[in-house]
Amino acid sequence: MFKNFWYAVEFSEDLPAGTPKKVKLLGQQLVIYRKSSDNSVVAMSDLCVHRGAALSGGSVKDDCIVCPYHGWEYEPDGAVRKIPAHPDKGIPRKARIDSYPVQEKYRFIWIYMGDLPEAERPPIPDWSAIDDTETYRAVSGSFLWKSNYERILENGVDVAHTPFVHGGVFGNPEKPEVPEFEVEESEWHCKVSVKLNPPRSKGIWGWINPNKQDLKDRPQVPVSTTWWLPNMILLEVDTPMGAMKIFDVNIPIDEETTLVKFIALRTFFKGKWADRDARRRVFKVLYEDEAVVNAVRPELLPFDLSAELHVKSDYNAVLYRRRRQELIDKGWSVEGNTIVGEGPARVEARVIPSPIRKEVPELASAWNFKEVRSKELLGKRVEREERGDVPRTDTTDTETTRGEEVPA
Ligand code: FES
Ligand SMILES: [Fe+2]
Repeated sequence: MFKNFWYAVEFSEDLPAGTPKKVKLLGQQLVIYRKSSDNSVVAMSDLCVHRGAALSGGSVKDDCIVCPYHGWEYEPDGAVRKIPAHPDKGIPRKARIDSYPVQEKYRFIWIYMGDLPEAERPPIPDWSAIDDTETYRAVSGSFLWKSNYERILENGVDVAHTPFVHGGVFGNPEKPEVPEFEVEESEWHCKVSVKLNPPRSKGIWGWINPNKQDLKDRPQVPVSTTWWLPNMILLEVDTPMGAMKIFDVNIPIDEETTLVKFIALRTFFKGKWADRDARRRVFKVLYEDEAVVNAVRPELLPFDLSAELHVKSDYNAVLYRRRRQELIDKGWSVEGNTIVGEGPARVEARVIPSPIRKEVPELASAWNFKEVRSKELLGKRVEREERGDVPRTDTTDTETTRGEEVPA
């Protein structure tokens, strides 16, 4: 998992004013809430510096959040402004927690989980089609998935699996070849475009879709899949009925749990009556993918490129793995198991550092919670484990659970 990126964590419409909400990301728990003064969103570590209570269980007062345990009041920048037990004493320098930059864009709340200055942050991709409500009709949804987000991302951009995993939905078992494809790539993304032979349309799509003839008579359908580092996907399909675009974020709650949030756009069947069907089609695909991806081993994406075998159609996945290695080399990876959140009991709290830690050097000694460790350190531990210098980390199998649609 990686720090220093913008992560979409919630739909804007699902954070009402006045109520704090807990969100989980990269193994860390965060509280988000809207300021009373201007309705903008604040995102902070959900860990009170006093006794570790979850601020998300507290309340919003003016622009501040109040801890539910002893009532300490935190400013939006993470500094404590009031300690009710000692109103006449000064506030200790260390009475502060990390507060992260936030943007509301493309119907999502995005949190910057890292400490880079603004100019050095990787951008949020251009997803402005989501705002184009003239052209597109949108449905959205959430899907909690008990698999690693990188395995899910690779699955989402993988063209070769569709005839086998989604045969009859949008994959075509009669035509599993992946034809020549075009590639567009940058430092942060990779888009692959192909023309595929579609299967016969079913359900309400079959009413107007003219592709009922033999396979060879059906028009080819332009399809493209795009990933953006570290966890975003766009699937575009130009069906004979019109265009479809499915934007999705694969939110790494921790290494083994992913919350998928999608916005699916379409230029056809734009009435409200077709929304249910449009959502149902996305969930059907997610359930089909889940059945395969949950059983993939190892659970996490290998670091060694030669650990799995690649063929031409895996081009975009190989590029993803290379870019990911570059991020690890830059020191951007975070070892989620050292962050306090879900999972086993721990005695130490670590958090992802926020920008103010670098911006205000005078505060360098004012941070009570240490920064999360990076993967390089974890790698060294694995080496030591293999040499037998330290006991092996517990890898007991846990039972995986079925994913579930999260009620809208
Ligand atoms: S734990 Fe938050 S005020 Fe005491
Ligand atoms: Fe799939």
